[in-house]
Amino acid sequence: MTKKTIMKIAGTGHYLPEKIMTNQDFEKIMDTTDEWIQQRVGIKERRVVGDADQSTSDLATFAAKAAIEDAGINPEDIDAIIIATVTPDMAFPSTAIFVQKNIGAVNAAVFDISAACTGWIYGMTIAEGFIATGKFKNILVIGAEFLTSLADMTDRSTAVLFGDGAGAVVVQPADGESGIMGSYIKSNGELAELLWSYGGGSRVNKRVTDQEKMVDANGNDKRSKIRMEGNKVYKYAVRAMIESAEKAMDDAGINEHQIDVLIPHQANMRIIDAIAERLEMPDDRVIRNLQYLGNSSAATIPIAIDQSRKSGKIKKGDIVLVAAFGGGFTWGGLVIKF
Ligand SMILES: CC(C)(COP(=O)(O)OP(=O)(O)OC[C@H]1O[C@@H](n2cnc3c(N)ncnc32)[C@H](O)[C@@H]1OP(=O)(O)O)[C@@H](O)C(=O)NCCC(=O)NCCS
Repeated sequence: MTKKTIMKIAGTGHYLPEKIMTNQDFEKIMDTTDEWIQQRVGIKERRVVGDADQSTSDLATFAAKAAIEDAGINPEDIDAIIIATVTPDMAFPSTAIFVQKNIGAVNAAVFDISAACTGWIYGMTIAEGFIATGKFKNILVIGAEFLTSLADMTDRSTAVLFGDGAGAVVVQPADGESGIMGSYIKSNGELAELLWSYGGGSRVNKRVTDQEKMVDANGNDKRSKIRMEGNKVYKYAVRAMIESAEKAMDDAGINEHQIDVLIPHQANMRIIDAIAERLEMPDDRVIRNLQYLGNSSAATIPIAIDQSRKSGKIKKGDIVLVAAFGGGFTWGGLVIKF
């Protein structure tokens, strides 16, 4: 282990809503085909909240409970809850507040962070700081999204991409065997208008006229929906993923040949293939769940970590590289020894 490893993952969990929405379901409601979606994106189906009486904090609560149980601790042991989400339950208070209440983490300081699809990696980096100072010993870092609540069902170029879900980890001080070996996070505000949602933000709330313009001729209210320049996002995404991977490995003092498992952010299979090829990672060591889950933003990586641990794809002692990019633009990576 490198000397600077200060935080380990002690438990993992995830939750997916029950409802499955297939590409064929989309064929019935918009001008698209299963073939186009599979070829251009790689998604067959996604999990969606649909009509269930759930919001982001409910998804996060299930994932948090599973991670706490896996870590073998009690909710009262949790010192902090950090939730990465772009689909909070409400403008305020934080989504983490509701998770705290739901799980009974009565001793925790809790808050949300907004770094889009890179959010969970940002959250892990923040948690590492808390552990490094000795302030906290047990932190829940959650990525949770009800992303389909932002999907514009009149826009075929975005609606088909997203899914809902939550992934959680409990982190603790490292034990000399496992832990975060390297990390990297970065942002570029010049690219803010490649991927965004006005949501209930102050920019929209104060401009009544602009709000009216955002309701189209059919009465479809686009204010809170996801807008994206897909082609440009794609171009920056590949660069950002490669930079994230390389910088995180540099920070850990290792190279791609020492990586056992690669977990890229699950947004587009062609982006995953590009980074896998660049890192010369054989297919069986690249985690892909995009075909079944779609892109659930900050939740994709912690969900994939939990699934991979529990299915045996990540074994004790494995070195795992994760890399993500997202709205902002934000991007980042982690090297984690399990
Ligand atoms: C969105 C994305 C799949 C679009 O694929 P693309 O190959 O770039 O496709 P384009 O946007 O150039 O569109 C090509 C054509 O397909 C059409 N198209 C878009 N969505 C479609 C759909 N769901 N079904 C059928 N056709 C579709 C477009 O209208 C366009 O048609 P036209 O040539 O007649 O105008 C791709 O750009 C992408 O994945 N970008 C990154 C998105 C991402 O990762 N976002 C998450 C960030 S965390």
